[in-house]
Amino acid sequence: MDIKLLQRILDLIITPDMREVVNNPKEGRGENRTAEEKDLLDSFSPNQFLSKMNLINHIKSLNFLNKDSEIVIFGSWYGSILIPAFYDEVKKITCIDQDTKVISRAKYDLFKDLNVDFICDDIFGEFRNQYKNTDLFINTSCEHMKPMKEWGPAPQYKNPWWTRVKEGSHFAFQSNAMFDIPTHTNCVNNIEEFKKQLSILHKVIIEDEIPDERGTRFTLIGQICKP
Ligand SMILES: C[S@@+](CC[C@H](N)C(=O)[O-])C[C@H]1O[C@@H](n2cnc3c(N)ncnc32)[C@H](O)[C@@H]1O
Repeated sequence: MDIKLLQRILDLIITPDMREVVNNPKEGRGENRTAEEKDLLDSFSPNQFLSKMNLINHIKSLNFLNKDSEIVIFGSWYGSILIPAFYDEVKKITCIDQDTKVISRAKYDLFKDLNVDFICDDIFGEFRNQYKNTDLFINTSCEHMKPMKEWGPAPQYKNPWWTRVKEGSHFAFQSNAMFDIPTHTNCVNNIEEFKKQLSILHKVIIEDEIPDERGTRFTLIGQICKP
């Protein structure tokens, strides 16, 4: 799907005034909106397009994806922008999120006509065989969880699962400095702090920053290179 077109259509239908009414309970009709509706609307917000387009454009500039590629999205939320961006270009997309509500909404409603794998689980829960065939690991929710260098068996991180994925596979991670948002448990102040959350196997190729009125977002893209 053409993501720019999707963004244009959404911008035409959902005006800033409409977003304000839905998100602000004091403005009448907003009171009747459920937290889930607001959350879903937020996943298609202009700021979400800004940060996801940054990631998508950088990934596409590296030109490594093809019709045989497999993508895994950690902390996928609804997959709102990333699924349409990559669906036609790769063989398989798997979304993993620990929240049943977002996985159900995406699987049985938003993307019910698409062949996307939706898994409801903690990404630190178990190593899945499909990770061995994954070409791109995306995580735009790094601020919500333990650092990616700790992606491995809990509770004591000893053998990182990055040693078990395909050598040369790519990663595309985002975090941010939005410390004021209560669900953000692992924000970073700058890109150097974010890099420290990577394992020694993560070789950074692209780093970028995206301004946002609530705090800068950070992008790191690279490859898993085994020693
Ligand atoms: C608010 S959302 C997405 C925020 C992100 N900045 C973005 O724009 O994509 C964060 C998601 O991460 C998920 N999540 C957090 N920790 C997780 C974990 N350990 N395993 C799986 N999903 C997780 C949450 O359930 C939630 O759906």
